[in-house]
Amino acid sequence: MLTDEFGREVTGVRVSLTDRCNFDCVYCHNEGLGDTRGPMDPQDDEMSTDDVVRFLEVAAEFGVDAVKFTGGEPMLRQDLAEIIERTPDRMEVSLTTNGTFLPGRAEELVDAGLERVNVSQDALDPADFAAVTKSGAYEKVLEGVEAALDAGLDPVKLNMVVFEHTAGYVPEMVDHVADNDGLQLQLIEYMPELTGKPEWNIDIQRVHDWLAERATEIEHREMHDRKRYWVGGSAADDGEASDASSNSSGMVEIVDPVENPTFCANCHRVRVTHEGYLKGCLNRNDDLKSMGEMTKPEIREAFRETVADRVPYYGEYMVQNDDGQWEINEKYIEEYAGA
Ligand code: 5AD
Repeated sequence: MLTDEFGREVTGVRVSLTDRCNFDCVYCHNEGLGDTRGPMDPQDDEMSTDDVVRFLEVAAEFGVDAVKFTGGEPMLRQDLAEIIERTPDRMEVSLTTNGTFLPGRAEELVDAGLERVNVSQDALDPADFAAVTKSGAYEKVLEGVEAALDAGLDPVKLNMVVFEHTAGYVPEMVDHVADNDGLQLQLIEYMPELTGKPEWNIDIQRVHDWLAERATEIEHREMHDRKRYWVGGSAADDGEASDASSNSSGMVEIVDPVENPTFCANCHRVRVTHEGYLKGCLNRNDDLKSMGEMTKPEIREAFRETVADRVPYYGEYMVQNDDGQWEINEKYIEEYAGA
């Protein structure tokens, strides 16, 4: 297991398989690269199947035990099942998808070894959904969630980015996961760093406070310093749910990385861009290392270097000045540039 200078073991990798996407979500940071979306056809710059597998084999040697495939929309890769199939057995495989291609394909991915899925769903109402994703594929997403559940990918985590446009949809999304078996909700604080729209930020603490009121039980997981809120079905709100037949409940988590040194201190993953660059932090693009045509020994070395260069983004790369404002840590930049 590789450990960075801040004592963080690297236990997971997050691999972007393409930056192509059939959606155009207004908030999308495209895995920290900003809006780089290209045409929808397969692109030459994407890692080949072999490139992806070679990297994963190296990561497995270093004890990495989880991989999350992402995009763009990773299901636009026709070789996704093959990639999953060839992923080293020691790794738990998960996928973050917009869900539209899960109908008819979920089972194939499960057979190949897929264990968990996150489906991006930012709203329950088709018109609201279309406004955020610039897509009319709402029904397909719901079918996709069903397909994932049918294929045994229970629980399915719904990813909802919470920002100005969606904050008002949080209560209905919470009710939705409380009322439907097999669903969990991940409320992701909007990250403004790479999207150029800082004004869409909301105060995530208000969401924590609201959920704490709504929850029947709150679990604080020390390991990730994250809270889990258990919520009862919406019928309970109307005072109708005291009978045993409607004891439905759901789990909601808040992912709140922005300006959060604790979040960064718990970051255990290295990323790979769709073009095969190692990337030590979602928010940084000054440490990218191309794996290009590298041999396995070279990839090993590049992986080691990427881990060695890792710093917590908030708390080390960005530090708070006397006024409490976050600014780039010049000292770190000098040291890093000189290395
Ligand atoms: N802020 C927070 N989360 C984002 N995602 C994409 N862009 C952003 C952003 N600006 C998340 C979505 C999506 C996943 C791939 O990345 O939750 O499901």
